[in-house]
Amino acid sequence: RTRIFSGVKPTGHLTLGNYLGALRRWAEVDQHRADALFCVVDLHALTVAHDPARVRRLTRQAATLLLAMGLDPERCTVFVQSHVDEHARLSYLMECTASDGEMRRMIQYKEKKAQGGAEVRLSLLTYPALMAADILAYGTDEVPVGEDQAQHVELTRDLAVRFNQRYGPVFVVPRATRPPVAARVKDLQEPTAKMGKSHARTAGIVYLLDEAETVRKKVARAVTDAHPEVVYDPAERPGVANLLEILAACTGGEPGELAGAYGSYGALKKDVAEAVVEMLRPVRERHAELAADPGYVDGVLRDGAERARAVARPRVDAAYRAVGLLPPA
Ligand code: TYM
Repeated sequence: RTRIFSGVKPTGHLTLGNYLGALRRWAEVDQHRADALFCVVDLHALTVAHDPARVRRLTRQAATLLLAMGLDPERCTVFVQSHVDEHARLSYLMECTASDGEMRRMIQYKEKKAQGGAEVRLSLLTYPALMAADILAYGTDEVPVGEDQAQHVELTRDLAVRFNQRYGPVFVVPRATRPPVAARVKDLQEPTAKMGKSHARTAGIVYLLDEAETVRKKVARAVTDAHPEVVYDPAERPGVANLLEILAACTGGEPGELAGAYGSYGALKKDVAEAVVEMLRPVRERHAELAADPGYVDGVLRDGAERARAVARPRVDAAYRAVGLLPPA
């Protein structure tokens, strides 16, 4: 059976970008067609300045949201990265497989380093080694992610191939999958930039737990342009294109075709807002129910970690032996 693994980092409240780029497919498609594991990757949240209490809170919230959006613990495995030691154990072997140069070429590292200056943590550089470990520990075939993670999955492939060539066939070489539209949702206020959960300015970010009125306001204020017609042109008219892509993702249409149905930006924004509000409504409602029952979520995460450990351990043990580490007697 196809094995799927993916993760989400608890560095901020989850956004519409996370949902359309990855999470929605996990629930609607991936868990039904494969042996799937979904992980709140809390160790990755420590690669930037962080507040311990906030990371703890966001980790629980992300896990609760994954269940709220329909991940079914009877069908797939939902767990927290730090509950399974294999991730950190294998990450070290990935650091011993990757080169310094290829880590420094990662776009996300370069971007975050430019923002972080001298305070950049060493773990931000080695981040892709941990991400490769996340994926490879499970013999993953497919990694459903948004566009911004494609480069990290490419590196993971390179590391798997290199490791296997050096030490023998331990790892499956995975591939990234992405949604047909909305693989890169842009910030509503800055439509050339990704909608990112850790951005400081929040006016252009729709959070999954935003109230309906907040969503409507944010969409109504989305940056567009001065053209009189609604046309889908991502290069020249990124703001409108972003709205059309969001609408297409919500309603299952084609951004180019949808454009023809609108005579004004006002009408388009109204429909985008309502489509997003309706799509998120059940997620928000279910989240409120689940948040009232933390014992249930804890139980899911406990079982999930146990299952994940059982899958990961033999392969990570095999990798330890393959590189020449003496097994404990
Ligand atoms: P993270 O937490 O930033 O994002 C989680 C998922 O959401 C996607 N995504 C987007 N898709 C479309 N438009 C956007 N604006 C947008 N923003 C985020 C991401 O592509 C991702 O699929 N490094 C990963 C977490 C991770 C991981 C893994 C993923 C760690 N280990 C192993 C897959 C497999 C990250 O920071 O995702």
